[in-house]
Amino acid sequence: MSEKLNVLVLGSGGREHAIIEACSRSLRLNKLFAIPGNPGIAAKAECFRLNAEDGAAVVDFCKEHAVDLVIVGPEAPLAAGVADVIRAAGVAVFGPSKAGAMLEASKEFSKNFMARHHVPTAKFFVCRTVDEAEKALAQFEPPYIVKASGLAAGKGVFVEPTLEGARSAVQQLLVEKKLGSAGDTLVIEEALPGRELSLMVITDTKDFRLLSTSQDHKRLKDGDEGPNTGGMGAYAPAPWVSDDLMTRALREVIEPSVAALRAEGLDYRGVLYVGLMIAPDGTPKVLEYNVRLGDPETEVLLPLFEGDWVDLCWHVAHGDLASFEWKKETQCSLCVICASGGYPTGKSAPAAISGLEAANAVEGVTVYHCGTAAQNGAVMATGGRVLCVSAVAPSLEQAKARAYEAVSKISFDGMQYRRDIGHQVFDK
Ligand code: AMP
Ligand code: GLY
Repeated sequence: MSEKLNVLVLGSGGREHAIIEACSRSLRLNKLFAIPGNPGIAAKAECFRLNAEDGAAVVDFCKEHAVDLVIVGPEAPLAAGVADVIRAAGVAVFGPSKAGAMLEASKEFSKNFMARHHVPTAKFFVCRTVDEAEKALAQFEPPYIVKASGLAAGKGVFVEPTLEGARSAVQQLLVEKKLGSAGDTLVIEEALPGRELSLMVITDTKDFRLLSTSQDHKRLKDGDEGPNTGGMGAYAPAPWVSDDLMTRALREVIEPSVAALRAEGLDYRGVLYVGLMIAPDGTPKVLEYNVRLGDPETEVLLPLFEGDWVDLCWHVAHGDLASFEWKKETQCSLCVICASGGYPTGKSAPAAISGLEAANAVEGVTVYHCGTAAQNGAVMATGGRVLCVSAVAPSLEQAKARAYEAVSKISFDGMQYRRDIGHQVFDK
């Protein structure tokens, strides 16, 4: 095996906790650090309270702690150009450049990028005034899709059944500035019917590999009802993805997308998350690109990953994905998010969590921390998505049974979770 590495992970959510667990299984790992981390991460890595979006501070930290490799979890540091600053200081980074991160940070940029490179996506208009938005809406039929172009932490997309609703979304974004400058520019687009599929593409722009297929559950309530959230649970693989569908997605979307990164000369070494809508006739179109792993998709994908995660990130960071030894996943995984009572709109008072140990003791289960804080030896729910209970098993049915057995052992004031994760597979 090659040299051992000191690895730093940036971020503080369930996704980063899953990345830390995957790193801790690596044969190439020496020391593991996190900025800022969380109480779950602190069991496996040394956590430091620094600002992950401050490139200069991260570079100083890397020098002080002889960090060899930085893995960036969330989009905000990438959009702030932190990967560029770290690379310029001579430290390897898994995560795209600021220019590459525009694919998520600006929907205007990403839609134009897709249009330039003939990547299939919904027809769209870019609007900066209410007048332009009104003209764009007139081109489409309900439901109307109105999106803030900038980063909005999952709150920037409106799917409106009526014209009044769509106008109100435009008003909130362009006039009331509900999302600040993120809503200065809008993308108004055609509604695509079908089924959603997320593909996580690992790429150094020369080559790419796919993590397992997975499916997120965006709505808060059972039966896909209620408001949109960051994601309430996921499973992997998605057994309904046929070989034909995968072949089409690769040929029509993924290959042209990676070729486009290359053609535009973007320094892109990390993950391209491709959110797809699969039409009833099997045609895949891109809903969105993200420039990092999905959350909670990561909490099912990384437990299934059978290669060496640190070694993979090291290869990608050096533009050498081609020589990484990829192993096919053989297991299944399903995760359930336990969120606080106010999620996704309101705040919740901190609440003590019980049952964590018992949940972690269920076979195949790992409880990832998303929104927790340590207080006098207790673990507190601090709001938003609090925990992600993830189970690995030989079948999705078993993974679901294990995950819900573990969830039944956890409680905190106001806890809400979906009871139907995986319904697309189980309720046929
Ligand atoms: P996005 O953040 O762009 O993925 O959008 C959030 C969610 O809104 C998606 O996961 C879809 O459920 C829905 N959505 C976004 N764009 C469209 C579209 N063009 N047609 C139908 N649904 C959409
Ligand atoms: N789970 C959706 C996302 O990470 O964007």
